[in-house]
Amino acid sequence: MSKNCAVILAAGEGTRMKANYSKVLTNVLFKPMIDWVADAVTNSGIDKENVCIITGHTGELVREHMGSDYNYAEQKQRLGTGHAVMQAVDFIKNSGADNVLVLNGDAPLIDEVTIENSLEQHILSKSAVTVVSACIERPFGYGRIIRDCEGNLKKIVEQRDATEQEKQINEVNSGVYWFSSKELLYALENLKSENDQGEYYLTDTIEMIKNIGGRASAFITDNSSVILGANDRVQLMELNEIARKEVLFSIMSSGVDIPCIDGVIICKGISVGVGTTVLPNTILRGKTTVGQNCTLGPNCLIENSQIKDNVKLSNVQMEDSIIGNGADAGPFVHIRPNSNIGENVHIGNFVEVKNSVLGKGTKLPHLSYIGDSDIGQNVNFGCGSLTVNYDGKTKSRTTVKDNAFIGCNTNIVAPVTVGEYSYIAAGATITQDVPEFSLSIARARQVNKEGWVKERKPFKNMD
Ligand code: UD1
Ligand code: CA
Repeated sequence: MSKNCAVILAAGEGTRMKANYSKVLTNVLFKPMIDWVADAVTNSGIDKENVCIITGHTGELVREHMGSDYNYAEQKQRLGTGHAVMQAVDFIKNSGADNVLVLNGDAPLIDEVTIENSLEQHILSKSAVTVVSACIERPFGYGRIIRDCEGNLKKIVEQRDATEQEKQINEVNSGVYWFSSKELLYALENLKSENDQGEYYLTDTIEMIKNIGGRASAFITDNSSVILGANDRVQLMELNEIARKEVLFSIMSSGVDIPCIDGVIICKGISVGVGTTVLPNTILRGKTTVGQNCTLGPNCLIENSQIKDNVKLSNVQMEDSIIGNGADAGPFVHIRPNSNIGENVHIGNFVEVKNSVLGKGTKLPHLSYIGDSDIGQNVNFGCGSLTVNYDGKTKSRTTVKDNAFIGCNTNIVAPVTVGEYSYIAAGATITQDVPEFSLSIARARQVNKEGWVKERKPFKNMD
């Protein structure tokens, strides 16, 4: 097996993005473009330690984001794609790799299959350089693939240098290449910047390699989105749209129902179980998993959460939490970090749960706040009941044991424990533990003063 390394070009500044950080850190489906590229590279079997990222003037942000497992080389001046790869010469030499994969950090839709298949062709055809190309309807702006009369790759001509005839060619350079190390190192050493931009074009290496007897070929990919890059926010939106549909179509083909994709964003890598329905304006992101036969949406935002089977969520925002089999929540529910919602829990409208455990079968049907609490099984919280977890200085935990009944509009002032099968009368403010099997009443006794209104005439129309 051959030994391979990769160089990712990421020194672009992102001026047209109007960002004060590197362009490759702008997001597609909530993930920086460079992560997409790096994931495709590592998924194709090249380890991080064999990848070198070329960074530019805000490179420290890229380094910080990507971490120390990768290698980095700084390109102090932006003198072209060939100059960018020159910064990796020491890395390539030290890696001992036979083949070098070069790719653009701002073309996120490259995939591991294209990388693997083009390598296979590169090796089988004994090429010294293999360019990944694509045939597209509107080739404007891209380098054109020029083939000789036998159909072999001759050279790549940039848009600005192309003749009228060459501009008609719709096979373009994706910016992804496999080079044999030896020939690449030779070409980088001898590369000139003799074009009207005064840039070192990586694409010029092809003719140089051919001139020393190396074979050059093009691998035409049928996934033409691999060439797409984003220079501004409109193109970024277009990439998002392509990536979004790709993910949604693949999820649908695995048996998930998405009757209308409007506003539905599911990040790459999130698994959604068979028979689940996802309704409009639902966003699933981070390390989220969704089980089978759930209904999510409309209007859910789920981040870093585990949703088990048969769960129904409508208008729910949920972060860093788990919700068990058969549970339901919504509409208008916020499940905040570190919550574990048990099986068959019912959470109704306008409820907030934070950093709490809710046992199996517990019900919070309306207008509750449960924060920093351990709630047992089959507990019923009446409308408007809530935990008082903060005294202005410290947060305290509330414990409610199994089968307790919390009457409407109760405040449970933590730290406090409400015992099993206890029964709290409506309107209570509980500041002391409630023993099991007891009724707790914590409110002023009702007084009715008959005839008081007629005597005191408190209403205007009684004057
Ligand atoms: C390049 C190719 C073109 C191809 C296109 C595909 C050359 C000369 N042209 O053109 O044939 O069709 O990509 O998208 O290579 N970069 C650096 N340092 C530099 C210059 C660029 O790191 O000095 C990085 C950029 O951040 C970007 C990538 O290289 O990630 C491509 O650079 P860009 O200027 O966008 O190249 P194109 O002109 O689009
Ligand atoms: Ca470009």
